[in-house]
Amino acid sequence: MGVARFALCKMASSLLPRMHRPSALRQMSVAADLKNSTIFRSQGLIGGQWVAAHDGKTLQVNNPSTGEIIADVPFMGRRETNDAISSAYEALNSWSKLTAAERSKCLRKWYDLIMSHKEELGQLITLEQGKPLKEALGEVSYGASFIEFFAEEAKRVYGDIIPATLADRRLFVLKQPVGVVGAITPWNFPLAMITRKVGPALACGCTAVVKPSELTPLTALAAAELALQAGIPPGVLNVVMGNASDIGDALLASPQVRKITFTGSTAVGKKLMAGAAGTVKRISLELGGNAPCIVFDDADLDVAVKGVLAAKFRNSGQTCVCANRVIVHEGIYEKFAEAFSKAVQNLQVGDGFTEGVVQGPLINEAAVQKVESFLQDALSKGAKVILGGKRHSLGMTFYEPTIVTDVKTDMLLAREEVFGPVAPLLRFKTEEEAIRIANDTNAGLAAYIFTSNVQRTWRVSEALEYGLVGVNEGIISTEVAPFGGVKQSGLGREGSKYGIDEYLELKYVCLGDMNRK
Ligand code: SIN
Repeated sequence: MGVARFALCKMASSLLPRMHRPSALRQMSVAADLKNSTIFRSQGLIGGQWVAAHDGKTLQVNNPSTGEIIADVPFMGRRETNDAISSAYEALNSWSKLTAAERSKCLRKWYDLIMSHKEELGQLITLEQGKPLKEALGEVSYGASFIEFFAEEAKRVYGDIIPATLADRRLFVLKQPVGVVGAITPWNFPLAMITRKVGPALACGCTAVVKPSELTPLTALAAAELALQAGIPPGVLNVVMGNASDIGDALLASPQVRKITFTGSTAVGKKLMAGAAGTVKRISLELGGNAPCIVFDDADLDVAVKGVLAAKFRNSGQTCVCANRVIVHEGIYEKFAEAFSKAVQNLQVGDGFTEGVVQGPLINEAAVQKVESFLQDALSKGAKVILGGKRHSLGMTFYEPTIVTDVKTDMLLAREEVFGPVAPLLRFKTEEEAIRIANDTNAGLAAYIFTSNVQRTWRVSEALEYGLVGVNEGIISTEVAPFGGVKQSGLGREGSKYGIDEYLELKYVCLGDMNRK
């Protein structure tokens, strides 16, 4: 270990009294190694140049597991965003005119580079986001899969020939890139939410300005560095971060930005939708959920426990598709609660670099306070905690995996997304009641059902007002299937053959007969 690294580790261990010391030291050593790696960047990317904010302002990126400062990145705003938009606009002409095969090659190279740096990217995700390393490595593969998929899909953007209504005409439909895309992405998937947007955008010839979450910009910057290394030309992919509302306003105000794509809260999504009206931009929104997980009395209990566990506790409950309400048939309610408790109590909580840990910290103090206030509301209305129910003894933002029973539909836990490791158990008597409870929300992203009755599978899947339905399965996201919600969970679909349409305009061309007099 070098002298500088040793000093850094010493400093960390004295700064972090609540954190398990060997693990804090491990994290500092990982951070130091990453800073020396070829993918580590801590400046914005505009027109192929790594740049600071124009006034030199910075913001700190923290490790949620230890509170340690990992890096300072530029605190950018309107000016840098406008520069990034200009670069993306300039690059659009040449990038969109490359053949699909040429763009596909660049994307494929980017995919290969992401996969060959999987370990470092996974470590970066764990450092700045907190999820366990194994899960972070899974995110790298998941994130990379969108680049690979859309590298292939780039070559399949077909137009159409329409049978003409007049004999001397020919009618064509072309598909063309929408133009410059503003992509605003969240902290819960620092890589995958970027690649799920930028993959299809670049594949069909758009250029992009990405604004990653200020909480997790380092993974985005590393991915952008790999895009440059892959030969994606300067200006095609730009990254700015800092003042979220100024950056968002600049993207919305610019007539050069023709599309906004956003993953995040419903509240921010609504603002973006209203803001996009000013310049009539295309918009895709992947917003909050309130996923029901219905466990019928004919379900295989082991399958249901395993599925609900995965759907609820993935990323410590911090995904838009996490089970938010576990709705269990009254006939198996107690049995399910007991079996589920046994499984949940085995979940090991800790920092993401510790072997065996499956639950990392929540992203910040506000996230923990939200969980606490929802739980308080439920308890004051008669719910009972049967497991967990408090901050973890590790301190920081670690929270105990929690199960709450006797939850009613009027409690905050059932009405809104808790975005934390709390599983509320509700009861139902009939299939109709289960469907009614499941649909009684403004959200409509993911839903899950557990049953061994095939007819019920179809009946309930069709009745659920959701964009995604998992049957006897708790993790259903994949690059090959459309991801997106109905109602106030969003607009548009990401991933799959449908995802690329969000970045394409249709143009109708009518060819007349030149020789006609
Ligand atoms: C999200 O939480 O927004 C994404 C989850 C996923 O892709 O599975």
